[in-house]
Amino acid sequence: MTRHGSDRPARLSEAELARAQAAARRLHAEFDDEDSGDWAGAQRDSLTDEPGGVRLQKVLAAAGVGSRRHCEELIGAGRVEVDGEVVRRFGARVDPQRQVIRVDGRRIPASSDLVYLALNKPAQVLTAMSDSRGRTTMADLLGSTAERLFHVGRLDYDTEGLVLLTNDGELAHRLTHPRFGVPKTYLAEVTGQVPRGLSRQLLTGIDLDDGVASADKFRVIEQVGGRALVEITLHEGRKHIVRRMLAAAGHPVTRLVRTQVGPIVLGSLQPGVTRPLSTREVGELYAAVGL
Ligand code: URA
Repeated sequence: MTRHGSDRPARLSEAELARAQAAARRLHAEFDDEDSGDWAGAQRDSLTDEPGGVRLQKVLAAAGVGSRRHCEELIGAGRVEVDGEVVRRFGARVDPQRQVIRVDGRRIPASSDLVYLALNKPAQVLTAMSDSRGRTTMADLLGSTAERLFHVGRLDYDTEGLVLLTNDGELAHRLTHPRFGVPKTYLAEVTGQVPRGLSRQLLTGIDLDDGVASADKFRVIEQVGGRALVEITLHEGRKHIVRRMLAAAGHPVTRLVRTQVGPIVLGSLQPGVTRPLSTREVGELYAAVGL
């Protein structure tokens, strides 16, 4: 039955229709207006809006999570958390510099001031921003971007491969601190025939001047004549560690390339070139160090 007491579907009167359209327009205006309050039609939560904050969906979209429409869908589906609390309101205002925002549990780089880059460092480039001896440094590769960034860990002058650069101090600190044990993977060209037992030796531990060092993983990729290409993963941060371990095992390194740092892979990035990390990659880095 309808409210008119007949079986005919109720029709809105012209006046009711006009009122409904006006209400819908008000809701849209409120939602679209950056300075308006809460969006009346949305589901509530107990997050306190940050005075002068930015709309959550705008922060998500700016961080590269997706279009605003997609970000609204994520919020509506309860997949977005701010400071540990699920937020379902499209209009919630947040402080992206200060608050921790996660999508599906993965933290997103919300602050637009933060920069995360991957660089493929060529050999004969110093992992530093300046050099008193006039050698080529990473600053020469990065140009003016370099002023704001610091490198996450170091590679030897002759080592090539992946270096992460950021101005996110806490993330950089954790990625380099031994407590967080972030694994790094290297491809090494070594001299000599690699015997079967080398893997066990490296995984068990090799005696070096400054103590035992062990690999997390080791495999021989290729053995050609008197040389081998090997892959080694370790979470050690000591100086020249891969070169020293392999030399101590009787296989000096002739070329060394870092191919992975935690979840970030070098891939096809060309030597001397940088690329911004994706939102997903930054989220994975945060997760790797418990942020
Ligand atoms: N181990 C080395 O021997 N050199 C590097 O640059 C990095 C790890």
